[in-house]
Amino acid sequence: MKSILVTGGAGFIGSHTCLTLLENGFEIFVFDSYINSSKKSLKNIIKILKKNNKDLESNLHLFKGDLKNVRNIEAIFQAALKKNKAIEAVIHFAGLKSVKESIVYPCSYWDNNVTGTINLLKIMEKYNCRNIVYSSSATVYKVKSNKLLNEKDECEPVNPYGQTKLTIENFLKDIFNSASSEWRIACLRYFNPAGAHKSGLIGESPLGKPNNLYPQITKVALGKMSEIKIFGSNWPTPDGTGVRDYIHVSDLAEGHLLALNYLLNNKPQILTLNLGTGKGTSVLEFIRIFERINNVKVPFSFSKRRDGDNAIVVANNSLAKSILKWIPKRNIEDICKSGWNWQLKNPNGFNK
Ligand SMILES: NC(=O)c1ccc[n+]([C@@H]2O[C@H](COP(=O)([O-])OP(=O)(O)OC[C@H]3O[C@@H](n4cnc5c(N)ncnc54)[C@H](O)[C@@H]3O)[C@@H](O)[C@H]2O)c1
Repeated sequence: MKSILVTGGAGFIGSHTCLTLLENGFEIFVFDSYINSSKKSLKNIIKILKKNNKDLESNLHLFKGDLKNVRNIEAIFQAALKKNKAIEAVIHFAGLKSVKESIVYPCSYWDNNVTGTINLLKIMEKYNCRNIVYSSSATVYKVKSNKLLNEKDECEPVNPYGQTKLTIENFLKDIFNSASSEWRIACLRYFNPAGAHKSGLIGESPLGKPNNLYPQITKVALGKMSEIKIFGSNWPTPDGTGVRDYIHVSDLAEGHLLALNYLLNNKPQILTLNLGTGKGTSVLEFIRIFERINNVKVPFSFSKRRDGDNAIVVANNSLAKSILKWIPKRNIEDICKSGWNWQLKNPNGFNK
């Protein structure tokens, strides 16, 4: 059984991926500071597995630690070795992810995301672990037109968060070039992850006011926020509101499983892949679909465009489809249903 270190495994995408990895026979070492998550997500993974008659608790090991502290990272590699289960690969989710916050606190973002990743790679090299799947983002792209974005398109992030994501991609290229016959690296550029596991036991649980559209919709539907503010009603799109590519978090989790298996079964290489559906949905469409599917009201109002926003940001996902044989299976309706189910069952998420 292969041992995988999942940094940020208690978070939104991390928890769904840990579940998928456990279901597929991996042993997981989760490293998380819980700065933006709760241990409850990991406890609930075990509940989901038990409901499906799978008792895999002994394959999940939890370590509280911060990537800014090299000793914390080393401790998890040591612990795995002591169990005779050396870590073979890392899936690296841990990071701060709010664009808005990154503009106010650039030092924290650079320190946490970039220094944290450098620390992680130092220890990976020390322990001879040279396989990594990294969470990148569509925010790295310079969006110049309305065409689908592909991996060769120019990158030029417009905020500190995006800068840290692209800097880490560039750092990983340097790492690869330093020993190209040894490293296996996949940088996965996610578009807009949304939805929740169908059980309603794990989902997105932002601390404080959410920044992304989807958790805002569920909060407004629940009456915890009064309305959605739509930034711009005059974009060059069919209904004037911004169009984005929303990808179900369970499809994303499956993308990680496929990327990991691909790396472990192929020659050393570095890959950069978009993980999106290739289909755009406007903000208004999204709200309408959510209201129809869940029979709820989501009030909204328009305000002016935000700096740095774009009309259309949608993935060309043909590379991930051809290399990984990854096919996103869930649609926007599934996102609306599953996310609402999660929110209804957990009105405060994992928070009290
Ligand atoms: N959710 C999105 O919209 C989105 C889009 C593109 C890329 N990403 C990237 O995907 C990754 C996961 O995103 P998510 O939505 O699951 O976020 P999340 O905040 O739910 O999960 C991140 C996890 O990392 C942990 N963490 C943060 N800094 C840490 C540190 N220094 N040491 C240890 N743990 C730390 C947090 O506690 C949290 O559990 C992030 O790197 C994010 O930048 C997310």
